Amino acid sequence: MRIPATVEIMQIEILEHEPPYRVGVIIGSLARESINRKLAGALEKVAPSEFEFFEISYADLPLYSYDYDADYPQVALDFKAAVASADAVLFVTPEYNRSIPGALKNAIDWGSRPWGQNAWADKPTGVIGASAGAIGTALAQQSLRATLSFLNARQMTAPEAYIRFTPGLIEADGTITEDRTEAFLRNFMEKFFEHTLRVLTVIPRP
Ligand SMILES: Cc1cc2nc3c(=O)[nH]c(=O)nc-3n(C[C@H](O)[C@H](O)[C@H](O)COP(=O)(O)O)c2cc1C
Repeated sequence: MRIPATVEIMQIEILEHEPPYRVGVIIGSLARESINRKLAGALEKVAPSEFEFFEISYADLPLYSYDYDADYPQVALDFKAAVASADAVLFVTPEYNRSIPGALKNAIDWGSRPWGQNAWADKPTGVIGASAGAIGTALAQQSLRATLSFLNARQMTAPEAYIRFTPGLIEADGTITEDRTEAFLRNFMEKFFEHTLRVLTVIPRP
């Protein structure tokens, strides 16, 4: 059977896309001593070497309104450009009142607009979070996953990771002090790497 021309083009694009793969990290907390920021540092440390990380900041975004759609502010254009430049996006979020923090939702809304210019579409994404409580951000992650689904992001659905944060679990330099947790998070990042490659193979970046 003849291979359609579009398939040949896709194969060339995949070969051109070599490591490092740039992961944009979005930390769902604005707190200075955020435990999720600590978790993000730990994930970076145990990740496959083909990954390179940068933080996508959203703290300076105003509250979104569609009044901005006709003339997006520079800070929002920069945010969207950072998302667009990432090969994959990793959300590391706390749970606030059984959902994601408002500032994170605001950032996701900015990324999704103006209509037809959704920065999250087809983006390989991963979701993880830490809380002091026993459910380890499970409800926040469900809420985030619903939003990412609607926005057509390509989510890693398994493994899931709900981290119960205890004092001393992660040191300031990102070292994980518990072997079991370290192995779990290392596996999570390996699977996220596989997921990213799989998505980029099927849907090469524009
Ligand atoms: C406004 C607010 C709401 C919270 N709601 C929840 C919650 O629904 N579930 C939970 O497990 N922890 C909740 N917590 C506790 C957080 O898990 C804890 O503050 C954690 O440190 C937040 O992560 P961060 O340090 O990365 O911001 C809440 C904390 C705040 C400040």
